Amino acid sequence: MYAPIATFLFGLALASPLNAKRAGKTPVFFLAGDSTTATITSGGGGWGDGFLSTLINGATGINFGHNGRTTVSFVQGGDWANVLSAVKNHTGVYDPYVTIQFGHNDQKAAANISIAQFSTNLANMVSDVHTAGGTPILITSLSRRNYNSSGLIIENLAPQVAATVSVGSNTSTTVLHLNEESTKYLNAIGEEDAYEYNRVEGDYTHLNVAGQTVFGNMVGWLLEKSDLRAKVEGFLGLNGTIVKDIEGGVFILP
Ligand SMILES: *[C@@H]1O[C@H](CO)[C@@H](O)[C@H](O)[C@H]1NC(C)=O
Ligand SMILES: *[C@@H]1O[C@H](CO)[C@@H](O)[C@H](O)[C@H]1NC(C)=O
Ligand SMILES: *[C@@H]1O[C@H](CO)[C@@H](O)[C@H](O)[C@H]1NC(C)=O
Ligand SMILES: *[C@@H]1O[C@H](CO)[C@@H](O)[C@H](O)[C@H]1NC(C)=O
Ligand SMILES: *[C@@H]1O[C@H](CO)[C@@H](O)[C@H](O)[C@H]1NC(C)=O
Repeated sequence: MYAPIATFLFGLALASPLNAKRAGKTPVFFLAGDSTTATITSGGGGWGDGFLSTLINGATGINFGHNGRTTVSFVQGGDWANVLSAVKNHTGVYDPYVTIQFGHNDQKAAANISIAQFSTNLANMVSDVHTAGGTPILITSLSRRNYNSSGLIIENLAPQVAATVSVGSNTSTTVLHLNEESTKYLNAIGEEDAYEYNRVEGDYTHLNVAGQTVFGNMVGWLLEKSDLRAKVEGFLGLNGTIVKDIEGGVFILP
């Protein structure tokens, strides 16, 4: 009497391994940030497109990274409104996520943005994403590829990184420690190899296609290890070779 039911359930479980993975809604990622997130252009090139190209099984996204933007100008210039409108447009069918990565321009003297102001701006963004119906993800700034005379990365984004982590814990938001992991990787491979990721010779901030691919996979790898793991499982088609080399601190030029 019970056998048919057991067989039925067993058959169902076997028949739908992908559906089981996709029990939640399909994620969609909207990337907010500066040129270190943005699509490669003459003034920028970040990890964003590299991350988006790892998405599989219907997951998708839009790179809203904007060269030169700060947590102030991204909002004042209208980019943030576009991000929030994209979130609102995708609730229902999709599970919208917004990655928030700033710091490179906020820290410039000319921007005149204090750490307190930077923190408040990030916290406001987190709150706006929730209100729009999405899930915020804070990402610490991708490291620059400037080395000191000991051959180690000059960690000149530390105040912005610490503030981002602090906002994350104060607002219970997932934080991806991209600054820490990119610094670790760049220290491991050394400056000569690190420069292979420069958008053009002498640009130690922006990425070429190889850099975009490596650091895009790094963001996906961090997301896969985060508390959002169960939500994104089955939607990230990371390159295993690249991830293995990131983990091992081995230089790779995809
Ligand atoms: C969201 O939908 C509105 C109304 O259809 C449209 O005007 C707007 O361009 C959409 N925004 C995005 C980012 O998709
Ligand atoms: C920098 O910002 C502070 C606080 O908003 C303001 O009082 C100050 O005048 C600004 N400095 C410059 C040079 O714009
Ligand atoms: C290089 O940076 C590392 C890490 O911040 C630091 O420990 C080391 O003292 C620095 N070396 C020089 C020569 O500044
Ligand atoms: C986070 O909360 C702690 C404790 O209330 C506070 O000291 C700190 O300034 C807050 N950090 C930010 C970035 O808001
Ligand atoms: C993963 O990256 C390596 C190194 O760039 C490349 O040779 C390989 O084709 C990639 N694999 C896939 C499935 O894209």
